[in-house]
Amino acid sequence: MSGVRRLGARWRRRRPLRTRLATAASAAVALVALGVCAAAFVVIRYELFHQLDLSLTQSATRTVQAERDSGPDVLAGECRYLSSPACAQIVPASASDDPAEPYLLPVSAAVREVAAGERAPYVSNITLFGRPMRMLTTPLGKGRALQVALRSDPVEKGVRQAAWLLAAVGGAGVLVAGGLGYWVSRTGLAPVSRLTATAERIAATRDPRHRIELPSGPPGRQDEVTRLAASFNTMLGELEQSVTAQRRLVADASHELRTPLTALRTNAELLSRADRLTDAQRDRASAALGRQIREVTGLVNDLIELARDEEPRPLLEQVRIAPLTEHTVGAAAAHWPSTPFPLHIDGEAARAVRPGVPARLTRLLTNLLDNAAKFSPPGAPVEVGLQALADGLELTVRDHGPGIAPEDLPYVFDRFYRADAARALPGSGLGLAMARQIARAHGADLTAETAPGGGALFRLTFGPVPPAGAHPVGE
Ligand SMILES: Nc1ncnc2c1ncn2[C@@H]1O[C@H](COP(=O)(O)OP(=O)(O)OP(=O)(O)O)[C@@H](O)[C@H]1O
Ligand SMILES: [Mg+2]
Repeated sequence: MSGVRRLGARWRRRRPLRTRLATAASAAVALVALGVCAAAFVVIRYELFHQLDLSLTQSATRTVQAERDSGPDVLAGECRYLSSPACAQIVPASASDDPAEPYLLPVSAAVREVAAGERAPYVSNITLFGRPMRMLTTPLGKGRALQVALRSDPVEKGVRQAAWLLAAVGGAGVLVAGGLGYWVSRTGLAPVSRLTATAERIAATRDPRHRIELPSGPPGRQDEVTRLAASFNTMLGELEQSVTAQRRLVADASHELRTPLTALRTNAELLSRADRLTDAQRDRASAALGRQIREVTGLVNDLIELARDEEPRPLLEQVRIAPLTEHTVGAAAAHWPSTPFPLHIDGEAARAVRPGVPARLTRLLTNLLDNAAKFSPPGAPVEVGLQALADGLELTVRDHGPGIAPEDLPYVFDRFYRADAARALPGSGLGLAMARQIARAHGADLTAETAPGGGALFRLTFGPVPPAGAHPVGE
């Protein structure tokens, strides 16, 4: 049994899906066709013999009637010919009462028992004059049995013909089943074949721009394969987007790195001829070199952080947002001595806790505070607020600088995007991209807007506290 199962498993592994489906569908249809033919044969055979038995019973009734009307002598018959009536004979219970002439039909002990009323009437198959016959033995009363026989070869011929006919129909059914199975597997698996071909093409060309053609029709009435193909297309779209984004990041990064690296090389070359420079020139060149190296290092570090999509799970902890904000604002105030950073934390928000990575949240807030201080005039305050919402927590950073122009608002979170007005100031345009990435990894939302009365306003909104066991970070 296990051997058969193993053979079946090997067959399933080796055959392509289309062959397996064709075989299964054909086998199912063929089985039904053969089953219907077999059932039809059984019914036809039963009906034909039933008709013969009915004729026998009718003949017996007629004979009994005739015997009652005209006496026992009428009971003889010739049933050798098809058109002749049934042959009949009366058999007494005791052999001693047998007539002188021999019996036409075979008389056995069972017949005597029927005559004696010890046995129920019965039908049997006999052979007479070399022909198959069906014989009814039934009690006649007064210790006698009546035997009536009819030729059964026309019925047997009919049954044989029915068998041939049904076998032919069954065979045709099996052929049709084979054709149907092939057709079902072809049409049913056509979308799967297209899906496979597309997947193979993508694997070969490594180009995620390919798509599977979907049949037209309302989306609600699509079958499973079409839905699978649609999801596959969506996945390809996302893959294409991510590949494009990565390519763009690499292209942008190399472009952004080119300018500081060129300046760095110029200063390095200048310093290599230090003997021809005055002390003042040498100091200026080495200071510029140091600054440019710090810039490039910062840029490369930012890029590395941006390329990392997830926050590492082991660093995740329950972060108390208020102390983290206070600490970060304190550090920014030290870094930007001419900018006051008034901080307002409302009572309930002081106890707020969210799962997260403290170093990353500090980085997010630092980027917002640095921008606010960098873009606003010296002495203008940068207001930081932390307040509880009905179903969350909101951290705001508002400055009194020039604000963000409406045409720049949709792009400030893009990598390397810097408004024209910001080009004079140091920076590479990665700060806000990184801030939004960190916010998303923490399940929070970061938005920019123009504050009422001028200046930029950034809002970081956390949702409600996630249930225990849920990990928003990196998901
Ligand atoms: N507080 C702000 N006020 C006005 N404009 C801002 C403010 N914050 C950001 N921007 C605009 O958004 C752009 C993108 O900001 P982002 O922090 O990403 O880059 P950056 O500060 O120029 O460079 P980096 O942060 O990488 O040093 C800025 O160049 C600036 O045009
Ligand atoms: Mg910035």
